[in-house]
Amino acid sequence: MDFAQGSSVRREDARNNASALRPEAASIPAMTSQTATPNRIEHQLTDKGYVPVYTTAVVEQPWSSYSTTDHEVWATLFERQQQILQGRASDEFLRNQRAMGMTPDRIPKFDDLNRVLRPATGWELIGVEGLLPELTFFDHLANRRFPVTWWIRKPEQLDYLSEPDLFHDLFGHVPLLMNPVFADYMAAYGRGGVKAHGIGPEALVNLTRLYWYTVEFGLIKQDDGLRIYGSGIVSSKGESIHCLESAAPNRVGFDLERIMRTRYRIDTYQKTYFVIDSYEQLMEATQPDFTPIYARLGSQASFPAGEVQDTDTVFHCGTGEGWLDDGDV
Ligand SMILES: [Fe+2]
Repeated sequence: MDFAQGSSVRREDARNNASALRPEAASIPAMTSQTATPNRIEHQLTDKGYVPVYTTAVVEQPWSSYSTTDHEVWATLFERQQQILQGRASDEFLRNQRAMGMTPDRIPKFDDLNRVLRPATGWELIGVEGLLPELTFFDHLANRRFPVTWWIRKPEQLDYLSEPDLFHDLFGHVPLLMNPVFADYMAAYGRGGVKAHGIGPEALVNLTRLYWYTVEFGLIKQDDGLRIYGSGIVSSKGESIHCLESAAPNRVGFDLERIMRTRYRIDTYQKTYFVIDSYEQLMEATQPDFTPIYARLGSQASFPAGEVQDTDTVFHCGTGEGWLDDGDV
């Protein structure tokens, strides 16, 4: 496979969300592996605005330093989302979350989760302080290391956070790493990201959209209806309901090049959600060399986030209610 990117963009959800993608920042010096000297930059200006902490360091999860309040925040968010996600999240997500032993009782220890995750798919969780430069992030994924922000949001941030925290990363991203096909997809994405990074910024833009519309905001078609698998959605109370039940957004079938041309929202709920038939479909779509695709897309205009295309398989054509006209990125 050869797709690239992964990451970039963080998301803030002005409407009750607390999700976020991974880093982004073209101006950060490229790091080639986690063995490079850790680099910490605060208040880094990126093309998505200021990133509060931007570091390449891998850290030990300081589990004993979590306060009672931290554990209570985890419990509150966990129980609330578990309730909302019944019948909304994909069966695979819910099943694997249980299999990993995540509970509301306390913030999970990365070491405990790794004892389950490693033998299942070869992935492991590593602790990080915050957002990573994109090449560092890709390198981790390519080597089956998933960076998890060690700190958790404050009680007053339950519904709104401007960067990924432990709840988003752990609750949202980690369960599907137990699925062998999705686990392969994520590693392939990392390898593709390293490659796209070498091709240039336009290729990274194309690949970032794929990450955004699948890993973060993807829907899947089950026999009993559409379900959520994207981590940006499952970690958000409001968007978990909005993406499936609101008439406003479009819900259309997965189409690789269409997605790579489609802009998205970082400040509101998505205008369009893309629906996969299976995780295998995702993996198969990313088998080809993306280099000629990037070259082809380079001469084509991007699609607005909310525009339905003639070639789309339409599950639902959105009413567009409440949409802002500008703000696509
Ligand atoms: Fe994320």
